[in-house]
Amino acid sequence: MRTKIRKIKEDAAFVGQEVVVKGWVRTVRTQKTFTFIEVNDGSTLSNLQVIADTLPPHVTTGASLAVTGKVVKSPGGKQNVEIHASEIEVVGRCDAETFPLQKKRHSLEFLRSIAHLRPRTNTIGAVTRVRNTLAYATHRFFQDLGFLYLHTPVITLSDCEGAGQLFQVTTLDKANPPRTEQGEVDHSRDFFGKEAYLTVSGQLNAEIYASALSDVYTFGPTFRAENSNTSRHLAEFWMIEPEMAFADIHDDMELAEKFLKAIFKEVLEKNTEDMELFDKFVCKGAIERLQNIVENPFERITYTEAIDILQKSGKTFEFPITWGCDMQSEHERYLCEQHFKKPIIVRDYPEAIKSFYMRLNDDGKTVAAMDVLVPGVGEIIGGSQREDRLDVLEAKMAANDLDKKDYWWYLELRKYGSVPHAGFGAGFERLVQFVTGMENIRDVIAFPRYPGHADF
Ligand code: 4AD
Ligand code: MG
Repeated sequence: MRTKIRKIKEDAAFVGQEVVVKGWVRTVRTQKTFTFIEVNDGSTLSNLQVIADTLPPHVTTGASLAVTGKVVKSPGGKQNVEIHASEIEVVGRCDAETFPLQKKRHSLEFLRSIAHLRPRTNTIGAVTRVRNTLAYATHRFFQDLGFLYLHTPVITLSDCEGAGQLFQVTTLDKANPPRTEQGEVDHSRDFFGKEAYLTVSGQLNAEIYASALSDVYTFGPTFRAENSNTSRHLAEFWMIEPEMAFADIHDDMELAEKFLKAIFKEVLEKNTEDMELFDKFVCKGAIERLQNIVENPFERITYTEAIDILQKSGKTFEFPITWGCDMQSEHERYLCEQHFKKPIIVRDYPEAIKSFYMRLNDDGKTVAAMDVLVPGVGEIIGGSQREDRLDVLEAKMAANDLDKKDYWWYLELRKYGSVPHAGFGAGFERLVQFVTGMENIRDVIAFPRYPGHADF
């Protein structure tokens, strides 16, 4: 039976035992009497050194091997154990002439163009393991608190964020769609009988279930057709969305802070080697930064206070800021990177710049919205207390040009046993980006989708 490299390295009981290791060759070094083969199977960052008396044919970088041999304590300082091979089987040869992953360091841009091979690099392997830890920790965190995991639909008729960044889902004949008498495309004859889209958020559906089961969360893919070629936006990204009944904006902020700390802590505990790689080669000081975040309270300020700080900063921003504008990433970054030097939670944003479902505050001009901003990434979480009063919600929808008929079920939740409730959306890739310090969001998801790119 095969043993994973991580197990062999972690458990001293393997020393002296015969094992079978399967993986891919990273490097081969032939010396006078021995050959050293570095094998990696993805279970851990560091390779396992295999020592062979002779170099069997076709053992080259990239080839896949099954190695049988004895685990021995390594005399070299770098690794604690190595394998003295008794048998090496080449499972799959690798065409050494054309294999794109040679020993030199490749740019992340280049690696994106070979997304089918990039998980075999140290960096992408480490990102993948950290991402896995974050996903597992997310489920554990919410499960431990008694939240129910809800699967919200991918296909939807409504635009939760009202921002119009929807991908349409249709089966109509592009070349010759059915038309109404007015000459418009007739979606009543489309697959769902209406215009349908890929979801931008599972929130509205989560609110339904929170209004019955109290605490729920979704964790699934979401889609936004925003044409922004930035290092923080994807057209397809994963979002974690908890929703709590009988909860207000303060409960929401509390949950968000607790959540981030819990999952970051888990990465520090489980991905030591991976984090050392990021700390060394990707983002100096990444480990200490994360430890600080886990151990210290986030700063909490209102939008109005944030604007005040920005205006008094004496800094010239590309976009000058006044009360009422949406903060640009330069503002968000100034606040958490230069002013507070830690994660901050900004709440009570002007009603006009936020979504229709957010609860209107007593001042009549701000809403109970909150964004968590972190150094390096900016907005990592966006959430709010939801408007639970039917009349206020109807007025807000009218002001946003939303048709009551399209949201009848959403409104009925306010009619039948409405409760104060709140939730947030955490962009999963932004979490991975933040933890690893990876500069571009396209490198923290296996197969990034962004304008012009949906390969692999
Ligand atoms: O702030 P957003 O738009 O909030 C919502 O969608 C709410 N309905 C969530 C809720 O309350 N249940 O998005 C939430 C988070 C952002 O803070 C950001 O981290 C991430 O989703 N996000 C993106 N991540 C990658 N690419 C994009 N294009 C993203 N747009 C938003
Ligand atoms: Mg937002």
